[in-house]
Amino acid sequence: MKLPEFAQKALALIEANSGEAYLVGGCVRDMVMGKTQNDIDITTNMLPDEIEELFVRYKTLDVGKKHGTITVFIDDNPIEITTYRIEGGYEDNRHPKSVHFTNRLKEDLSRRDFTMNALCYNDKSGIVDEFYGVRDIQNRCIRAIGEPKKRFGEDALRILRAFRFMAQLDFFIEESTISAIYECRGLLKNISPERVTEEVTKLLLSNNPVGTLLLMSELHVLENILKPLSEIEQNAIENSNPTLEIRLAIALKKEGLESLCVDKKTKARVKMLWDNQHFKINPDKQSVKQKLNELSYEEVLLLLDYQALLGEDNKVQRNLVLEVEQNGECYSLKQLNINGDEIVLNGVPKGGKVGEILRILLDNVISGRVENEKSALLECVKNMQCVVVFRGL
Ligand code: CTP
Repeated sequence: MKLPEFAQKALALIEANSGEAYLVGGCVRDMVMGKTQNDIDITTNMLPDEIEELFVRYKTLDVGKKHGTITVFIDDNPIEITTYRIEGGYEDNRHPKSVHFTNRLKEDLSRRDFTMNALCYNDKSGIVDEFYGVRDIQNRCIRAIGEPKKRFGEDALRILRAFRFMAQLDFFIEESTISAIYECRGLLKNISPERVTEEVTKLLLSNNPVGTLLLMSELHVLENILKPLSEIEQNAIENSNPTLEIRLAIALKKEGLESLCVDKKTKARVKMLWDNQHFKINPDKQSVKQKLNELSYEEVLLLLDYQALLGEDNKVQRNLVLEVEQNGECYSLKQLNINGDEIVLNGVPKGGKVGEILRILLDNVISGRVENEKSALLECVKNMQCVVVFRGL
């Protein structure tokens, strides 16, 4: 296997000092699958203090030292170097209570989640495959190591990792691993919303999440967050580009969005899609411009994509949006060729009336009654003042 040069350097330095060192985990899995991986983890029999000393010429970080990990930067690439370890019991189904270092590689590999993630490699030994991970990768199979219930009991996040890998890699989950997921699914309540969000987001942004979402629904996993998908919704996800807002809007329950830690902008956009789902924009420029003024250019395009995925034919509206934007046609206050100061200079007292007049002007421009030109707009302001005086307001 062709390793990145910075990874070679790290392995070589440890080996030159009589240590054992292997690439391990996702980077080996991906290399076996023929993908390049720059996110490198190394497992070693050397202790964290020894690693710090050995890599003294390099920048290192010791935030994970308690758990045996030193991050080393080689040619600006971070590498996590972790001492072989076994975990001494878990609390809250997520965090090891304590870790014990060991000098036996197999012990370190046996505490990991799936066979495909328990592979390790160096040039001297080739692939070390204690749990038939290569066979499982070839068969596209996600299989927990050893006793699946124990693995999920130690760290319930692994349940979501299994589904995320299924979606990302287009693998299936082996039967006894599925049964254990079903039995342990209640433990997911102990996982922080940040981690759940991270896994759900990766899953939804994968190329083909539908089969995974259906399995999760069947197994009642995250059923407070994800909704059972109708056939139309399944097709919508299948046909959509991996756009987070759209996929969240299709896959989430309302309360699901509230319980996830998605950023404010994304959350607002998902709500916008839900609120406007059944609002049909008429296929004329005036209606399109009104919607553009209410939302924004990106949001209207997002909404049209979402509605189209759910079966609405809105090509005409989409083309009109693109045309309006391309021609720089006015649909918002900031595009009006007049501002508040100019209205005040033309005799309107400062205050709420100015804003109201601007909005009326925009309305007139959008509807095509007035050109978006200063003289025409000022003329319109004068006429409005006459009406105000005439009405005695
Ligand atoms: N691991 C584990 N249980 C977890 C998380 C990680 O056993 N809950 C082990 C696996 O061996 C995994 C390795 O730690 O391969 C590294 O984990 P991480 O970097 O989080 O994930 P990767 O498997 O590398 O996959 P990806 O980078 O695609 O998330």
